[in-house]
Amino acid sequence: MEAQQTKRILVTAALPYANGYLHLGHLAGAYLPADVYVRYQRLKQRDVKFICGSDEHGVPITITAEKEKTTPQAVVDYYHKANKEAFDRFGMQFDNYSRTSLPLHHETAKEFFLDFHKKGILKEKAEKQLYCEKDTMFLADRYVEGTCPNCKNPGARGDQCENCGNWLNQEDLIEPRCKVCGTTPVMRETKHWYFPLGDYQKQLEKYVEERNKRDGWKDNVLQYCRSWFKEGLQDRAVTRDLPWGVPVPIEGYPNKVLYVWFDAVLGYISSTKEWAQQQGNPDDWKRYWQQDDTKYVAFIGKDNVVFHCIVFPAMLMAKGGYVLPENVPANEFLNFEGQKFSKSRGWGIDLKDFLDEFPNADALRYAIAVNLPEYHDSDFYLKDYQARNNNELAAILGNFVNRTLTFVQKNFNNTVPQLHSLTDEDKRHLEYLKNVPQDIGEHYERYRFRDGLLAVMNVARAANKYFNDTAPWKSIKNDPERCQTTLHICLQTVRTLGLLVEPVLPGTAQKIWRLLNLSSLHSQQWDTAGEPELEAGHKLGESEILFSRIEDKDIDSLLERLAAESRKAEAPVKKDTAPIKPEIAIEDFMKVDLRTGKVTACEKVKKSKKLLKLSVDLGSEQRTVVGGIAEQYKPEDLVGKNVIIVANLKPAKLMGVESKGMVLAAIGEKDNPVLLMPEEAMPPGSTVR
Ligand code: MF3
Ligand code: ZN
Repeated sequence: MEAQQTKRILVTAALPYANGYLHLGHLAGAYLPADVYVRYQRLKQRDVKFICGSDEHGVPITITAEKEKTTPQAVVDYYHKANKEAFDRFGMQFDNYSRTSLPLHHETAKEFFLDFHKKGILKEKAEKQLYCEKDTMFLADRYVEGTCPNCKNPGARGDQCENCGNWLNQEDLIEPRCKVCGTTPVMRETKHWYFPLGDYQKQLEKYVEERNKRDGWKDNVLQYCRSWFKEGLQDRAVTRDLPWGVPVPIEGYPNKVLYVWFDAVLGYISSTKEWAQQQGNPDDWKRYWQQDDTKYVAFIGKDNVVFHCIVFPAMLMAKGGYVLPENVPANEFLNFEGQKFSKSRGWGIDLKDFLDEFPNADALRYAIAVNLPEYHDSDFYLKDYQARNNNELAAILGNFVNRTLTFVQKNFNNTVPQLHSLTDEDKRHLEYLKNVPQDIGEHYERYRFRDGLLAVMNVARAANKYFNDTAPWKSIKNDPERCQTTLHICLQTVRTLGLLVEPVLPGTAQKIWRLLNLSSLHSQQWDTAGEPELEAGHKLGESEILFSRIEDKDIDSLLERLAAESRKAEAPVKKDTAPIKPEIAIEDFMKVDLRTGKVTACEKVKKSKKLLKLSVDLGSEQRTVVGGIAEQYKPEDLVGKNVIIVANLKPAKLMGVESKGMVLAAIGEKDNPVLLMPEEAMPPGSTVR
């Protein structure tokens, strides 16, 4: 891997929707790693800008506004403020946190659209779309729900089925309904503009492979990109029939706006422009976006990969003259107490609620950082949070700092003691401190934040060991010079730690700086963090506790409250049995060819939580059938079982696997399928009527 020669670094973190509160999962996905990276780069004294803001367009926001009988602007005003405040309390240090509803952003998005339009890149297509006659509007994206044509999930949205993960065209939804009024929409013609993503496929493939070679992309991100390339990139509509968003900037398109993802990614650019304006140097954003010795790193969660590795780069290529992301270190998901964060099930905890309960943001940053879902989904448990705080932050880091400072206060008049002759042990420890910033830095440069943090904590461990091994409480009595020397070295180590913890624990770093009575933490050099820079005779500051213990009762009462909230959210769903469908003739039914089959092999479909791939013996032939039953059945338990198959169903591709037929199941509570498995062994291929 050859590192790119960089003059300056541009860092962005996904713009959160201003449609709800930030929760811990968001922080683990993109924001905390981005902040650690940026703080580290700042201590490296690099020219780095950290850009973010609220994503204030899109259908979920207008739906919230309708539900709450208010305007989309009021919704985004509220959540923008709330999220910005929560980020501040969490210690996020953005250079700018903007909003996509600002005129500056609208202008930027329009400029891109018009540029593409002028160059003839965009294609206009007329198409039929679902239209609700009652609400007199086209039903874009999530405004329509229906049954997924692939997996039969009855709650699929117009743009995507959350159950099987497939992207959908809304006209393929079975029994579509308007999300606002519940009536059945009709088809009407409308015109939209499309961006020809396919035209950029070759360039994009080259881009991804090249940057991977240069900066080492994460496997999960690469695999995502490659599978999109394999499927082949398609035209994508970049306009929508909606009243909220950036209006389409050409004549004759009233009531149309740019698709939210088209404008959202451009929010990074407009937010940088806003930053430059605030600096009184309005053109300064160009240095970061338009000079190719900028290293641009885009932090996101895994659900945003396609937009940042494919769509956004293609847009930047089409526009020309912009830097592309050098890396997109997307994280997987963080679960909470073993379950997914879920708004509808009321499961999880918002950042602001967490900080109201436990105000030390550093303890939370630490517990999330050690559990970052860097390679696979990971878990956040409150008990683990408590243990990390008590057993690591307080007992290792806090303890070392505290014992060193109290000792110096008591025995050396709160002043840095003299350094006398050094033993091998001292030399070894000092040498170790010198090298450690480089080691940790390498982890951070490669977006391995867990490993970096582990290395930081190892310094605190080594420091405690040095303190124990040199036993100053003994030497103070029989060898005062030796005692002065070791405490001098311990204080140097406290300073080193103060710098090394800063990216992850910025508040703690500030406290350590106060304890040492030092100024200008942020002008320090990361590279020399391990050098002994404290001078003998320097007066130290007042003592202060770094981490207070968290008690069982605080954790338990919070857990109880969260469980109660989630019970409340889940309680009232009583499922009525589905209404009986309209009558059919016997001939209609006879068109369905049902057969018995025996499962001969079974495995999970890759990258799918719900799908199993079954090989079924139908007597005359062997069939591959895919079913959404992976959450209910283990593959090995199905082998040898008798099932019933719809044998003449048109084949369909599910997550890349061709399914020829469907396996019958009764749909239980919460839409859990229960397979119909005849107990009597019939010869495979027997007809079922
Ligand atoms: N709002 C989107 C989300 O939370 C992320 C947008 S990232 C951007 O998933 F680049 F488009 F801004
Ligand atoms: Zn589906």
